[in-house]
Amino acid sequence: MQTTPMAPECGVEISGVALASCSDAEMQDIKNAIYEHGVAVFRDQEFSKEDHITFGKRWGGIDVNNYFPLTEDYAEIAVVKKDPDQTVNIGGDWHTDHSYDQIPAMGSVLVARELPPQGGDTMWAHMGAAYDALPQDLKDEIEGLEAFHTADHIYKADGLYAQTDMGRSLRGHDLKTGAVHPVVIRHPHTGRKLLYVNRAFTINIVGRTREESLPLLQRLYDAALTGDNECRLQWKPGTVAIWDNRTTWHNAMNDYQGHYREMHRITLSGEALAA
Ligand code: SIN
Repeated sequence: MQTTPMAPECGVEISGVALASCSDAEMQDIKNAIYEHGVAVFRDQEFSKEDHITFGKRWGGIDVNNYFPLTEDYAEIAVVKKDPDQTVNIGGDWHTDHSYDQIPAMGSVLVARELPPQGGDTMWAHMGAAYDALPQDLKDEIEGLEAFHTADHIYKADGLYAQTDMGRSLRGHDLKTGAVHPVVIRHPHTGRKLLYVNRAFTINIVGRTREESLPLLQRLYDAALTGDNECRLQWKPGTVAIWDNRTTWHNAMNDYQGHYREMHRITLSGEALAA
């Protein structure tokens, strides 16, 4: 396997491995690379829906997404799609998948199934590098804090998506979510400190109102994107990306209006997070 960095502090492209048939040793190397770099990209993969599920299960469990449409044949695979006439996409702002769960998904395996002629890239940002780059006074200010996360304002019947043309594609309008996590977590495998708030799902610092929390959250969101800790993937047929949700934020570009884009996502089960 060969690895090529995608950016100074985020992402790695891995070549010389077939995900559908990789050995246990290769799998361990892939996992370690993702824990460290946040996201790994694999090109020219032959990766059927069955391969996708089998590969996902090699990480442990699969968290079935409660909101996205699922493939007709497999509930484990969520369909992240946008029709040519839809203007709003899924995941079109910086976020961390499933941070609204008390045991959030460890990561995601995203497979390109149908791509627009151009555009539709995905970006990631490394939250370990983001934490490291914070000024010391800000690190001191967030030490020991916890934050509340939910998805209700986004997916419920009168939530953000329901007010757009993406609303018709989503499910789970009646679900109630809510979780509390440390603002700075330690990666369960590497022990690295990671900034764990995101502007899609983090509502408030525990013990403060939303209004009281916003100035601090906004300072963290502004500081979290440094340029060097961001990478961008231009998808091609056969591309698979696997990322660690604890280590990264991601953001799906919505710049292919009038074209269809379909991705298949498996969300990998995670573990409780600790400071
Ligand atoms: C997501 O998982 O948030 C969507 C990513 C993408 O469609 O590129």
